[in-house]
Amino acid sequence: MTNTTTSVPRVALVTGTASGIGEAVVRQFRELGHQVLAVDFNEQAKDKADAAGAAFYQADLTDGEACKGAVAEAIQRFGRVDILVNNAGIQHVSPIEDFPEAKWRQIIDLMLTAPFLLTQAAWPSMRRNGWGRIVNIASVHAQVASPGKSAYISAKHGLIGLTKTAALEGGPQGITANAICPAYVKTPLVENQIADQARLHNMDEQDVVEQIMLKNAAVKRLIDPEEVSALVAYLASDAAGAVSGSSWNIDLGWTAQ
Ligand SMILES: NC(=O)c1ccc[n+]([C@@H]2O[C@H](COP(=O)([O-])OP(=O)(O)OC[C@H]3O[C@@H](n4cnc5c(N)ncnc54)[C@H](O)[C@@H]3O)[C@@H](O)[C@H]2O)c1
Repeated sequence: MTNTTTSVPRVALVTGTASGIGEAVVRQFRELGHQVLAVDFNEQAKDKADAAGAAFYQADLTDGEACKGAVAEAIQRFGRVDILVNNAGIQHVSPIEDFPEAKWRQIIDLMLTAPFLLTQAAWPSMRRNGWGRIVNIASVHAQVASPGKSAYISAKHGLIGLTKTAALEGGPQGITANAICPAYVKTPLVENQIADQARLHNMDEQDVVEQIMLKNAAVKRLIDPEEVSALVAYLASDAAGAVSGSSWNIDLGWTAQ
């Protein structure tokens, strides 16, 4: 029986690590003995990285040069990149008619173009070593849409396309690529949305969670970041070598209907 964790320590680059899912992934990887470069534009991520024993690189990933710089930093520090977790993300809610063009571009740059550029920059190292794991944090909104989230949903649907293409190109080179599609996870990204929706609909926050966020869920609770990082750890392990090009829902049964 294959162990679900890697026996060999790896070098991982994780984006969006100041809070939420990315922070949990860094902690999980450190527990597995991996060397980690945590990449974020938020200074607070440095303290979190220090506490977890990870290295930190400050970068605004909407800037293509910063994406390339992050991979160069990992290679300079650790000699290679084995695992890439594309996680950094933001949300903006507004109908298409009013959606600000600048916000659209920011979301596509951060959540679709940055994963592409990071994949491209990390690829030669993975190819040379004949081993690579790319894990893209997509969303249930890579599978279904909701009104008001056009940029986020477009970026996440696109990320599934990038994942599948990387899987096809990477297969012969020992590189796998997979996506994870969570429903609502207890993170600052969702806490802000709960507060916004409560104000918008004049509801209390508990009602927003129960009546809006969990409306389509069979399992009526929010997801813990550690439930996502556990799946990241599996997909980044040797044991998952036959798993590629797939999308893994952690969606409380949302898309079962
Ligand atoms: N929380 C959820 O319910 C949920 C559900 C599905 C998918 N996701 C996805 O999971 C990922 C992580 O989200 P989270 O909920 O942990 O959010 P979060 O807000 O806790 O973390 C997002 C991280 O991205 C970083 N970031 C934002 N803009 C950046 C930029 N320009 N450059 C570098 N870093 C930047 C932030 O500083 C933060 O550390 C996102 O891609 C999100 O779309 C979240």
